Amino acid sequence: MRILFLGDIVGRPGRRIARQAVAKATASLGVDVVVANVENASGGVGIAAKTWGELCAMGIHVGTTGNHVWKHRDIEPVLARRDGLLRPANYPEPAPGTGMHLHSTPAGPVVVINLLGRTFMEAVDCPFAAADALVAAAPADACIVVDFHAEATSEKWAMAHFLRGRVHAVVGTHTHVPTRDATILDGVTGYITDVGMCGPRESCLGMDPKAVLARFRTGRPVRFTVADGPGAAHGVIIDWAEGRCVGMSPWEYTEGL
Ligand SMILES: [Fe+2]
Ligand SMILES: [Fe+2]
Repeated sequence: MRILFLGDIVGRPGRRIARQAVAKATASLGVDVVVANVENASGGVGIAAKTWGELCAMGIHVGTTGNHVWKHRDIEPVLARRDGLLRPANYPEPAPGTGMHLHSTPAGPVVVINLLGRTFMEAVDCPFAAADALVAAAPADACIVVDFHAEATSEKWAMAHFLRGRVHAVVGTHTHVPTRDATILDGVTGYITDVGMCGPRESCLGMDPKAVLARFRTGRPVRFTVADGPGAAHGVIIDWAEGRCVGMSPWEYTEGL
């Protein structure tokens, strides 16, 4: 099984780039399933119901999210359908939706789990305890991919050590900056601290640098807008066979090339 996992899709330019990237990957890389973090897909913050429909139509099978998941209220009934769009599993139980999804592919079943970190982030339930329960509930023959949406590199590496040998990929999201530490632990568990984003290159994490700089320099709230211009889609290609991750390769689609 070959999985394409794309980093946080940021706003309209991110969706434009992701559409091109998914088309290219499915045409030339033999990808069986596409997973993407979509927490920034609508206006740079959150995911609206209409946007999720657009992302499904471009070939994204499973969407993961993060700390911005609740921004657009009309996504709550979509999350409640539990048919491919996830919210982090460790939000307290009354939250709508689920943090785990099983998707069937011709190459076998894949389980996607979505978790949220707690270091330098909002207070949520323990992601390690949530991971334990979900991994135990996953079918034994499935490929298990975890999106750990977290700020601290240490928390992400700790999760990789916690789940090594028990899942087949731990993919970090949230910082929008790709790391170059992709590896396979114990010959079973692929890992990368952060996969990056799908968004415009001339930006601060996808946003207009002028507004971000104004907020940093003055300490006052400044409204951010999504930047534009040519960009890239950052992702990772995960290859899975016979219960092991056999490939964990960073992949980048550059717009216009
Ligand atoms: Fe993000
Ligand atoms: Fe985030």
